[in-house]
Amino acid sequence: MPKYMSSRDLAEGLDIRPQFSRDGAVVDIPRRKMSEHSVDPETAFNVISDELMLDGHARLNVATFGTTWMEPQAERLMAIAADKNLVDRDEYPQTAQLEDRCLDIIADFWNAPEPDNPIGCSTVGSSEACMLAGLALKWRWKERQQDAGRPTDRPNLVVGANVQVCWHKFCCYWEIEPKEVPIRPGETTMHPDDVAEACDSNTIGVVGILGSTFDGAYEDIAGMAKALDKLDLEQGINVPIHVDAASGGLFAPFVDPHLVWDFRIERVQSINASGHKYGLVYPGVGWLLWRSEEARPDNLVFRVDYLGGDHPTMSLNFTKPGSGVVAQYYQFVRLGSEGFNRVHQHSRDIAQMMAKAIGSMAEFELIADGSDLPVVAFCFKGANTKTGKPRKGSYAERVTYTLDDIAGWMKQGGWAVPAYHFCADREDLELIRVVVRNAFSRDLAQMFLKELGRAVGRCDGTGEDSGRAFQH
Ligand SMILES: Cc1ncc(COP(=O)(O)O)c(C=O)c1O
Repeated sequence: MPKYMSSRDLAEGLDIRPQFSRDGAVVDIPRRKMSEHSVDPETAFNVISDELMLDGHARLNVATFGTTWMEPQAERLMAIAADKNLVDRDEYPQTAQLEDRCLDIIADFWNAPEPDNPIGCSTVGSSEACMLAGLALKWRWKERQQDAGRPTDRPNLVVGANVQVCWHKFCCYWEIEPKEVPIRPGETTMHPDDVAEACDSNTIGVVGILGSTFDGAYEDIAGMAKALDKLDLEQGINVPIHVDAASGGLFAPFVDPHLVWDFRIERVQSINASGHKYGLVYPGVGWLLWRSEEARPDNLVFRVDYLGGDHPTMSLNFTKPGSGVVAQYYQFVRLGSEGFNRVHQHSRDIAQMMAKAIGSMAEFELIADGSDLPVVAFCFKGANTKTGKPRKGSYAERVTYTLDDIAGWMKQGGWAVPAYHFCADREDLELIRVVVRNAFSRDLAQMFLKELGRAVGRCDGTGEDSGRAFQH
């Protein structure tokens, strides 16, 4: 053993030495090199599960849109399907069936023109779905340009400055110029007129977001389509829309059925959603649908026969477990549309209750009150201005601590709720976002509010328990 050990050595350098009073369990296991010797499964389980105790509690992580609670029956089904490779449709035809049925179900509530013949696939999440959707836009644009005898070397994609990072990745990985539409001062989503203005004949498509990552706000997809129709009519520039409905795609159809954002709009060519967000499934499943065969170029589809049979594949990854798809089908069967409505409406009610409590605090101002996605976002009172400077005489102007300080205290209370800056052009705006999800009960919400009141009290020096929000 070295004479002097740094804290990293102490934390990481020593071998693992399980201390369970079990025969053969007192051995050294290197942490970062493969051990020469085996240990029994229970010991391996114990040492790893002990380490994992130091992770935060997933259900107290209100920073994520990802599902953190499922019924035990769903967990059992996921375990049953974990060893089935979804791509191996010949060997696991029933799992493949469930994937097809999920696509039928989703096509129906996204109002696809032919719900009995959905053109789409499951993915590992929305990021993969967005890559495939973006590639389809690129290929379709290339064909249009070639037909018109125009150049194909400078494709661009029109996105809001508020898009999720997967679209920056898409543009970088496939060498497409991102044309970022700035968010107007005082707003949090793209203005439809700005979208049309950013388009030209090299635009492969526009990405509209149903449920912004930053504050949960729905973008005005119908408004964008209208502005693009006008552009088409006046300048002959025909630009398709992809809707990134990572969070809203499996939320809005159940609680906002009258909102028109999906394939009911002609210009919407494709839609993605994460099953592992408001599809109520643990991480690892996403969905992508195109409006028609024409919207999905054939060259994105590959046929392979080396797993038996001859099946089309359309994915960035080949192998993936069947668990996500099976769990998605479980949720559809288990809840039905009435159940999805109940679960999501409950999340919205909780978010709105929290928003009311937080909005009535002297320190904070709401950016999102849970009326679109069940997201509550807030900044210091007086911080959300068109100038980027706090309003004169406001709390934001005189506050002596930061939202990071609040997040730090919340963390000590067990809650993961980060403070972050809004997107490009609105970086002046610092906020905290709370994502309400299935199984975030009224009780948990009350506990969160109580902790928030305490955190403020600690930060502003008025005492441990300022007793603000939790009175609501
Ligand atoms: C709008 C939006 N698009 C895409 C993604 C990426 O989704 P996934 O994590 O399923 O890859 C997210 C994730 O939060 C998102 O909010």
